[in-house]
Amino acid sequence: MPPALKALLAQLLGCAAAFAVARSCLLPTGLWPLVAVQAAAATGAAVALKSAPWWRWIHLGFVPLVVGAVQLSIAPGWYLAAFLVFALIYWSSFRTQVPLFLSNRRTAETVAGLLPAERPAKLLDLGSGTGSLLRPLARMRPDCRFEGLESAPAPYALSRLLSRSQPNVSLARGDFWNIPWSDYDVVYAFLSPVPMPQVWQKACAELRPGSLLVSNSFPVEGVEPESVIEVSDRRGTQLYCYLPAGPGLKQKTGIARP
Ligand SMILES: C[S@@+](CC[C@H](N)C(=O)[O-])C[C@H]1O[C@@H](n2cnc3c(N)ncnc32)[C@H](O)[C@@H]1O
Repeated sequence: MPPALKALLAQLLGCAAAFAVARSCLLPTGLWPLVAVQAAAATGAAVALKSAPWWRWIHLGFVPLVVGAVQLSIAPGWYLAAFLVFALIYWSSFRTQVPLFLSNRRTAETVAGLLPAERPAKLLDLGSGTGSLLRPLARMRPDCRFEGLESAPAPYALSRLLSRSQPNVSLARGDFWNIPWSDYDVVYAFLSPVPMPQVWQKACAELRPGSLLVSNSFPVEGVEPESVIEVSDRRGTQLYCYLPAGPGLKQKTGIARP
């Protein structure tokens, strides 16, 4: 069952439990005891439905926060505004299960070291966010071309604005599943564990021999990476490097093999 559907079901079960307890007259009167029952039952339902652990905290806080916010009498327009801002930033995350978080400069420096030193190369960033990987890379390697595809409108607009004076950066809005990856020397992914099996399948089908798939933080389950590179940043980033179509004939990828 998709996580969003599980979440809806857990909330509905919580409401049903609160309704049943209210009818049984077992609780002290007032709104908050009912709210507590709803929150506890929704959390229990999320556990029973095997939702990811963070959903439990969301269910525990959701209705109490809604009831608390209603009591603050905040004008409804603010909720609409907040919804629109989050929607423009996170867009289809509820479906793709890939939220927005950004690659740091150290990671960009490490990825620059994976590009072939002796010739220009082309890199594709799957879900390029605000361009935080592509912009520093483009400065480090002006001879190379850096392309990104991003689905969410707000990060995309910001990335276009920030990279407007970088001719070797090219950004588009769209879905990276809908373009061929065969034209790239390096395909970079910083996504989540959810799409990685599909990323691997597409990379195996389309990448050329010698082309590199680099996944920040999320390995492809069941596939041995060519190398795992530790980035010297504070979050201990790991880059999982794969050659889905095997090594190229003459190509030097510069990957440190394990
Ligand atoms: C974790 S962020 C990484 C941003 C950037 N690559 C970086 O390293 O800083 C992942 C981005 O992928 C985008 N995304 C997820 N699925 C996508 C898809 N199918 N097509 C285009 N973008 C997608 C999300 O909107 C999000 O902004």
